[in-house]
Amino acid sequence: MTSATSFLIVVIHLACIRSGDSSEKFVNLECNEESHGVYGQQSLLQCNVKAVKKVTILTVTWKRVEALLLEYNQDTFNPTPGFKFAEPSWNKKNTNVSLLLTNTKMADTGEYTCMVRTDSGDDTATTSLSVTAKYITPTMSSIPETNIEENTGVTIFCNSTGGQQKGSIRWFDQFRNDWTRSAELVAKETEDGPFSLSSKFKVQKATSSSTNYTCEVLNVNGAVEGMASFVIQFAPRDSGRKADKLDSDSTTNWLAPVVVIGSLIIGLLAALLLFKRRSARRDHQTDTRHDGDVEAEVSLCPGLNSDSPQDQRNSL
Ligand SMILES: *[C@@H]1O[C@H](CO)[C@@H](O)[C@H](O)[C@H]1NC(C)=O
Ligand SMILES: *[C@@H]1O[C@H](CO)[C@@H](O)[C@H](O)[C@H]1NC(C)=O
Ligand SMILES: *[C@@H]1O[C@H](CO)[C@@H](O)[C@H](O)[C@H]1NC(C)=O
Repeated sequence: MTSATSFLIVVIHLACIRSGDSSEKFVNLECNEESHGVYGQQSLLQCNVKAVKKVTILTVTWKRVEALLLEYNQDTFNPTPGFKFAEPSWNKKNTNVSLLLTNTKMADTGEYTCMVRTDSGDDTATTSLSVTAKYITPTMSSIPETNIEENTGVTIFCNSTGGQQKGSIRWFDQFRNDWTRSAELVAKETEDGPFSLSSKFKVQKATSSSTNYTCEVLNVNGAVEGMASFVIQFAPRDSGRKADKLDSDSTTNWLAPVVVIGSLIIGLLAALLLFKRRSARRDHQTDTRHDGDVEAEVSLCPGLNSDSPQDQRNSL
């Protein structure tokens, strides 16, 4: 017998057992066996009501070690802060009775019980939650915050919380030089278990050629769990000169088209005048005078004249 057929037989066998089970029960509450949550984030405990026909839910009760977390009973909700139905607008026709923990704590670890009563029968199921802690993306700040002068000292902070064990923080500048040894780390254990880290790095002489600093949060195993970058806010340099430049820039902005248009108009007028004078002369003078006319025109441009090849030959 191949492994595939033996698998099939096992599946059929299981299906028979299950259908035999549910023939006694009209309603089944099916929950995920285990869920994994992360400290400070949302956790979802999945439970769904499975029924052969449409059911109306009368009550839902979520508990952890006898502590009531969430209750729905005949159209009224009784939630504990931090716990709610995962379905945003849950109602009695919705068979997804999953529980959402809005801000998971280490203490939320454990076994949860869900009890459901419907118009077609009741069921109870359990599910468990394990919580791990991870450092969150660090937040950065500096003292002073802004208007930092060239070549003065700046202290940059990099803070993060949430780690299960004492982690560390590494510092880099924008050229990826490692400054970790110049930084001071303070690690504290918070009441709820996880660690909070604050690293202080003093830039002795901040210069605007290197403004971007990056910090990385590492867990106890040296894996990076979060990083952030910070740009030192320098005082705006020679703002007076900048304003002047802007001013003259805007002057040239409107001056340029005016000059171009103006010279075009003047050029056109001059051409018009010349044309009129020439046509007037042509009307009154004979063709023999024409050559002299051209000569006179050329002599109007002495620069052009002296550059002519003939003149150059003469000067040699
Ligand atoms: C139940 O609802 C939650 C929240 O909307 C959703 O993430 C989950 O997938 C749902 N479960 C099922 C089996 O539909
Ligand atoms: C980081 O922690 C230090 C020391 O506790 C504090 O002075 C600083 O304001 C914190 N920075 C941020 C961004 O939370
Ligand atoms: C600062 O440097 C980091 C890492 O090199 C980069 O991801 C980030 O975009 C930089 N920020 C700015 C404002 O240049």
